[in-house]
This record gives sequence, C-alpha cells and structure tokens, in this order.
Amino acid sequence: MAARGACAALVMIFLLFVLISHTSNKSISSDSVVETRERMSNGLDEEGQGDAPVENNKNAGISDDTVSSLLERIKVLEDELSSMRTRMDDAENREGNNGIPDEMAVPLPTTKSFPSVRYRNEETRKRVLITGGAGFVGSHLVDKLMLDGHEIIALDNYFTGRKKNIEHWIGHPNFEMVHHDVVNPYFVEVDQIYHLASPASPPHYMYNPVKTIKTNTLGTINMLGLAKRVKATVLLASTSEVYGDPEVHPQPETYWGHVNTIGPRACYDEGKRVAESLMVAYNKQENVKIRIARIFNTFGPRMHMNDGRVVSNFIIQVLQDKPITIYGNGTQTRSFQYVTDLVDGLIALMNSNYSLPVNIGNPEEHTIGEFATIIRDLVPGSTSEIVNQESQQDDPQQRRPDIRRAAEQIQWRPQVLMKDGLLKTIEYFRAEIDRNKRGGKPPPEPVRHGGLESRR
Ligand SMILES: NC(=O)c1ccc[n+]([C@@H]2O[C@H](COP(=O)([O-])OP(=O)(O)OC[C@H]3O[C@@H](n4cnc5c(N)ncnc54)[C@H](O)[C@@H]3O)[C@@H](O)[C@H]2O)c1
Repeated sequence: MAARGACAALVMIFLLFVLISHTSNKSISSDSVVETRERMSNGLDEEGQGDAPVENNKNAGISDDTVSSLLERIKVLEDELSSMRTRMDDAENREGNNGIPDEMAVPLPTTKSFPSVRYRNEETRKRVLITGGAGFVGSHLVDKLMLDGHEIIALDNYFTGRKKNIEHWIGHPNFEMVHHDVVNPYFVEVDQIYHLASPASPPHYMYNPVKTIKTNTLGTINMLGLAKRVKATVLLASTSEVYGDPEVHPQPETYWGHVNTIGPRACYDEGKRVAESLMVAYNKQENVKIRIARIFNTFGPRMHMNDGRVVSNFIIQVLQDKPITIYGNGTQTRSFQYVTDLVDGLIALMNSNYSLPVNIGNPEEHTIGEFATIIRDLVPGSTSEIVNQESQQDDPQQRRPDIRRAAEQIQWRPQVLMKDGLLKTIEYFRAEIDRNKRGGKPPPEPVRHGGLESRR
C-alpha cells in the first residue's frame, strides 16, 4: 500500500510540475487546459459543432500544437498511472507470490504426506548410507530403514537406478538423496554403509565392462576408506556369481567358485570377487567392520523391465501374450527370492557381528521350464506358448544357495512364498506396461544379451 501511494504521489507531482512549467512559460491557465482537454475528449469544436477538430485555442493564447502535445503528454501520464495502479492492485492480490508476477512465481510445494516412520531417539537412530539406493534392491532397503526410523542417505549415479523408486521420500527430514558416482571418493558422517552400487544384470554390466570393474573395485575402496575414517560398518552386496558355473551343489560359502576370468561376465564376477578380497583386507589391516552378503537371484517390484533376467523376461512375454523364450532345453535350475526377504537378510547381517560371507537366497529350486509354466499360470487367460531356443555358452546348470550359515549366524531364512512374490511382481509389471502405453512408449521387449537371461 505504501509503495502504491508513493508512486501515485510521484506521478501527480510530475503532472503538476509539467502543468506549472507550461503555465508559467506560455501564460496558460490550468482551467483552460482542462477545458480544452474536455472539449477535445468530447470531440467538440469551439462552437460546439460536433466532430470538427479544434483548430486553435483563442482563450489560452497559445498555439494548438502546444496544447495538443500537452494533452497527449497528460494522456500518456494518466495511462501510465492507471496501469501502475492496476499492477499494484494485482500484486497486492497475489500475497502468496510476495508480489512476484505469476509468470515468474514458482509455486510453493504443497505439504507432502509420508508414510509414518518409527520414532527413534539419538541412541538407537542410525545414520545410514546406501550406495545404489535408487536401484531395485536399494530402494526397497531405503523403504525398510526409513520406516524403521533411521536417517538415510541414498547415493546413486542413476546408471540403472531411477529417482522414481525413492521419490516418495523426497522432502522427508530423515531422507537425503545424493547424485554421486562411487568411483569418486565421498565423505559423510555415517554409522553404517550398505554398498550396493553396481550394475547387476548382464546387459547393464556388460554395457561398459571397464566401468563395471571400476565401480566394484575403486567404488568399494572408496566406501571402505570412508568406513575406516568414520568407523562405520560396511556391508558389501556381493553375488552368487562369485561361484561362477558351480561344480558344487547347492553352493555353500566355503565353495571357492568356478569363474572364467576372461569371459563376458568376468567384469562383474571378478569385480565382485576383488570387492570381497578388499573387504577382508581392510578388515584385517585397518580393523574396518565388514559384512559380505552373497546375494542370489532376487525379483520383485521395481525390477528393470528390460534387464534380461528370467523373471522379468517371462512376465513381460506372458503379459503381452507373446511366446515365452527359453534358451536350452529348460532343465537348468534356478532359485529366486523375493526382494523383501533379501532386504530383511541384509539388515540382519548388518546388525550381526559376523564378518565372513553369508549366502542370502531362497533355496526353493525350479527348472527354468517350470518357472515359465508357473508364471504363465499366474496370468489368467494367457495363451503364451513356450519356445526353446539354442542354449547359451557358460550357462550354469544349477544354482541354489546353501543357507545354513544365514540361519545359524543371523537367524534369517526367506518367508515369502514364490507364488505370492510373483503375483506382486506381475501386478507391478502390468502397471508399468500400462503406464508406458499411456505415455506413448513402445511395449517392452525381453532382452537377449548373449542369451544370458536364462542365467539370472
Ligand atoms: N538383484 C539381484 O538379483 C542381485 C543378485 C546378486 C547381487 N546383487 C547385487 O545387489 C546390488 C543391487 O542390485 P540391483 O538388482 O538393485 O541392481 P540395480 O541395477 O537396480 O541397482 C544398482 C544401483 O547402483 C547404481 N550404480 C551403478 N553404478 C554406480 C556407480 N558407479 N556409482 C553410484 N551408483 C551406481 C545404479 O544406478 C543402481 O541404482 C548390486 O551390487 C548387485 O550386484 C543383486
């Protein structure tokens, strides 16, 4: 209001100044100017003859040109004053924008509602760093730890992860998102580090094998260095791939594995093996508290649609009524765990005091052919036929975790029935396919990457 008054006053002073100066210079009375303006605005001449233009101003004794230019000037100033008033009125009416014009104002975020999280006091609340926090497994771990009342920093370079996976926590006081690549050092005060950053499916880790090796070696060194500095416990998301194409079945943690060091999967398999060695070295040499989870095949919502794994490929094919492709005769076996079981296992391991590798997987073993049938039967009306194609090089014939160590050391065993997990995953993929359709995206294609989909 004060600004508006000041402006109006300024304009009026200016008008007065113009009038006074012209009055004194040209001996023109203000009355005559007003009168003349009225005449002009009424479109009358001196004799009141209607539309004829005013030709001169005999009363004022000044030329018509001067009067016209004065009137024009007054008109311009009046217009400016009026538009200024309008703008100020608008600004006052937009109190929410603090006077910023609408087109420039960024809408303030509306209050976001979050799932209710457990209250923890300083003593029991942990600050937790999760690398790869925007990925499939990482995002479920974020959810679980957030709900449990901890402070979470989700670090990711978004190579395969998506902000969408954790966006529901953005803005929560306990949550922080960090865009960072673990290949570069990162410094933060934390109590625990879940080190999950690494591409996990064959098409992703084979896309840039050198980067995969760097992520698993340099990235792990960086996280171990951080753990050493801040005295945090660090958990490595290792993999059943460290067993390679196993000659021992089921695979216990004591089995050293059977890995091809120069095969297409070596960047990942050997990368994780070196990561495990680094963990043990930092533990022995630097007293860093370490946990090593050897994760077996995992499935669930937020899996990548095109990651070439058995579960995602089969579900996508069945939901689109396309043939289910099996590489080989389908007798090779796999065991799949549901993602919430894995997350429970990771947390139990982190909070134990066990430093040796622990298998986290579901020992329920099925042939790939059985999986195809199970998934098809869970989608009513599906007519997908099963098609066998040429088998793949290095495809392991059997994969099943021996989970006795997990049961003994961290009292963990999987709880979710495969069928229940599959139903939730099918619903997730169905919604994703619909979302893509609405967004005009082409339907997802199952990925064949050297046929490795039958291995995961
Ligand atoms: N899902 C499984 O079946 C499975 C099996 C065995 C092991 N694992 C391990 O679990 C972890 C998580 O796997 P996932 O299935 O969630 O895979 P994912 O690809 O969904 O998640 C990995 C995350 O790490 C991020 N990332 C990759 N490189 C990075 C880098 N250099 N810096 C920062 N972030 C980076 C990705 O963007 C992604 O968000 C991986 O370490 C994987 O090796 C998973």
